[in-house]
Amino acid sequence: MRIAMIGTGYVGLVSGACFADFGHRVTCVDTAASKIAALNRGEIPIFEPDLDRLVAASVSAGRLDFTTDLAGPVGEADAVFIAVGTPSRRGDGHADLTYVHAAAREIAKALQGFTVVVTKSTVPVGTGDEVERIIRETNPQADVAVASNPEFLREGAAIRDFKHPDRIVVGTSDERARKVLGEVYRPLYLNQAPIMYTERRTAELIKYAANAFLATKITFINEMADLSEKVGADVQEVARGIGLDNRIGPKFLNAGPGFGGSCFPKDTRALVKTALDHDVPLRIVEAVLAVNDNRKRAMARKVASALGGNLRGKTIGLLGLTFKPDTDDMREAPSIPLVTGLLDLGAKVRAYDPVGMEQAKGELPDITYCEDPYAVAKDADALVIVTEWRQFRALDLTRLKREMANPVMVDLRNIYRRDEMEELGFTYESVGRGA
Ligand code: UGA
Repeated sequence: MRIAMIGTGYVGLVSGACFADFGHRVTCVDTAASKIAALNRGEIPIFEPDLDRLVAASVSAGRLDFTTDLAGPVGEADAVFIAVGTPSRRGDGHADLTYVHAAAREIAKALQGFTVVVTKSTVPVGTGDEVERIIRETNPQADVAVASNPEFLREGAAIRDFKHPDRIVVGTSDERARKVLGEVYRPLYLNQAPIMYTERRTAELIKYAANAFLATKITFINEMADLSEKVGADVQEVARGIGLDNRIGPKFLNAGPGFGGSCFPKDTRALVKTALDHDVPLRIVEAVLAVNDNRKRAMARKVASALGGNLRGKTIGLLGLTFKPDTDDMREAPSIPLVTGLLDLGAKVRAYDPVGMEQAKGELPDITYCEDPYAVAKDADALVIVTEWRQFRALDLTRLKREMANPVMVDLRNIYRRDEMEELGFTYESVGRGA
């Protein structure tokens, strides 16, 4: 199959590289010339484990290339994937579809022969209809089918998720399009990944419903964590106890500082907006958003209370800044409201993140960046585990404590055990472990 991937962001680049790895001939297209030039030099614009290796292998095998020219690869493609950004629209929280619509117009002009145009970007229900309308209006002769094929990969585990999906969702009622996408994904369903064919609008909603449900699961366990602290229970045991029920399942029940990232906050907001447009308010998802926003803001107060309530003149060290490990992504990271809150309460903030510090400097200019966790600990009145990077699970805690002015550890990711920390002489606070 020949594939054109429009957009070289997270989803576009990972999907393009994985499709090429399956054996397809893939061209990734982006309007940003500097990005394409960098990719052609072998530089990967995002941090994602293994992506550089995968890209390099497919490029040297002649199955993957990068260009700013959309028309050539689209004209030759069996399938054109739209994987451009759909950020939150300023002011109203709706998904901004400017880039999707612009891509549809450009694609329409270049189509030759039967082609499936597939939206892979997360797009509100009905976007496929609009993409089809734009294409047919721009090029009435086009032999085209428009399908939805949402992506469920997670940052930091993107390649594994892409190659071992729980399911592939293909939304189109066009038989020829189903056949083409069946071919595109053949290597995966040969590996037993279920491929689910459905209608286009249903596929679009599946993506939002999945993200909203996962965000709800996290928010639910976060509220159980707050209750656990008050009633003397351990939220990790609660999560295990409910997760062993197959109907609930054990995943996405880690309590923490609230969800962030480029997807859950944006997609839940967009879903709420879509539903309001249709006069079907989604009260649960609205509550999830409000609870999560409050939670992120409350984390600075949690740190303050671990130090007796007053942070004026205190030095707080943060370990981890990105919204989750194995990424350099700072979008909607819980560290941002945490830092704002700590600074407002009069604290000085020092921080270290294994890969996210360059990105963080733009968001958080008023803190001191350190070269490692021990430098962060130097003279700190408290250390806060903000992101659960693997290397933070193997710190030399005795050395860390020696560096600190005051051995207080606030573990927002529950990566340590209270008894061990207390034995080492730390005052230890975590999330939802009141037992
Ligand atoms: C999420 C979904 O998990 C993917 O399936 C989806 O494809 C993606 O959004 C998307 O729409 O593109 P991602 O945002 O990369 O993926 O990261 P997650 O691993 O889902 O984590 C999101 C946030 O939830 C992070 O801030 C994380 O710390 C938090 N989280 C996750 C918890 O607080 N507890 C958990 O148990 C799990």
